Amino acid sequence: MTVRTTALDAVDLGDPATFAEHDLGAFWRTLRDTAPVHWNPPAGGRKGFWVLSRHEDIMATYRDDVHFTSERGNVLVTLLGGGDAGAGRMLAVTDGPRHHELRKILQRVLSPRVLDEVARTVRANTRRWIREAVESGGCDFAEEIAGRIPMTTISSLLGVPEEDREFLLSLTKAALSTEDEGVGEVESEMARNEILMYFMDIVEERRESPGDDVISMLVASSLDGVPLSDEDVVLNCYSLIIGGDETSRLTMIDCVRTLAAQPEEWRRLKHGEVAIDTAVDEVLRWASPTMHFGRSVVRETELHGVRMRPGEIVTLWHASGNRDERVFDRPETFDLGRTPNKHLAFGYGPHFCVGSYLAKVEIAELLMALRDFTTGFEQTAESLPIRSNFLTGFSTLPVRFLPDHSGLKEVD
Ligand code: HEM
Repeated sequence: MTVRTTALDAVDLGDPATFAEHDLGAFWRTLRDTAPVHWNPPAGGRKGFWVLSRHEDIMATYRDDVHFTSERGNVLVTLLGGGDAGAGRMLAVTDGPRHHELRKILQRVLSPRVLDEVARTVRANTRRWIREAVESGGCDFAEEIAGRIPMTTISSLLGVPEEDREFLLSLTKAALSTEDEGVGEVESEMARNEILMYFMDIVEERRESPGDDVISMLVASSLDGVPLSDEDVVLNCYSLIIGGDETSRLTMIDCVRTLAAQPEEWRRLKHGEVAIDTAVDEVLRWASPTMHFGRSVVRETELHGVRMRPGEIVTLWHASGNRDERVFDRPETFDLGRTPNKHLAFGYGPHFCVGSYLAKVEIAELLMALRDFTTGFEQTAESLPIRSNFLTGFSTLPVRFLPDHSGLKEVD
């Protein structure tokens, strides 16, 4: 299919319906080939914005904190809505030396030493839940497994009590899947506020009686000799929970859905023909759960002869960059043995995902548990796609598992 320039203008990337109702593969290919700096015109009351679709341009923009900033938001919803309330205080929307210092603190609290313990919990939980699902014949993987792994992981990292986790999960779903059926912008805003209020209470508790969790570590941290305020701690807890829950969940759902549909790739995994780490990267490239991130122009710059002016919004589309034929051999093929695999699922440059190690641990444990406990699985009913201009994936995934009796006999 060839998409003409006029047809390109008809595709509104600000509208969640665009992603739910169309396969954009041909659109992205045409943009990469003919309009690598594309202007998404104003529509539906939203401002226009630039769209970058090539892998190389996305990387260059992520790297460039001279012409671009994250401080006016880093996703369309905040960029178009006039900014992010956490600007200058929440890691993802802070730039410059403050970002550097804050990132050092978060990298420390997410260091392998701290995560070693968490990784063991991820392994134990994942193996238990997959084993139970296989033994019972099947489940809604999205709800019963993918819905539990990331939230339990981040909650144990932050020291969120067991009994509050279900409640927090429902809030994060409402906070991010803004356009999901039945969740409007008002409910979503309320959910975001409730998360912040919830963490405010926990921070107060930890100031009085610290533990060995990440919140207690943040509470004890200083930036340039000034202790982090309660609000700063809360905003960054919020960003860990928001950043680490839905992205990992959607990736795991996409992983199982794709493996069910591609028996040859499943066979390669099952028979140990592909390294787990290599497979994890392909799962991430394939899912690309965050379709875009964005920046605002702070100094005039030019790309492919197109001038971008201060105040304008530039969006970077992983959905396209991770399928760029200039970088990936057979980009439309899901190949668990793909190397090299320079995917952009975690972004690039100074804001590269600080939770990438944890996310990879979660996906690796999922692949290993599937490999060990089941001989194969099939999807038994259609999945429900989420509606968003930021995230992509499915909220349901009914599957039937075939048990691997020898794997199940082994005690972990
Ligand atoms: C940043 C994706 C998991 C926390 C980012 C960015 C991307 C990303 C693309 C860059 C944003 C930008 O440049 O504006 C993902 C994906 C994940 C994942 C695809 C799972 C498959 C996690 C987890 C955590 C986390 C598990 C927390 C434990 C963060 C934070 C940032 C970030 C705090 C901001 C980093 C900074 O600005 O320096 N993530 N992420 N993410 N992510 Fe993740």
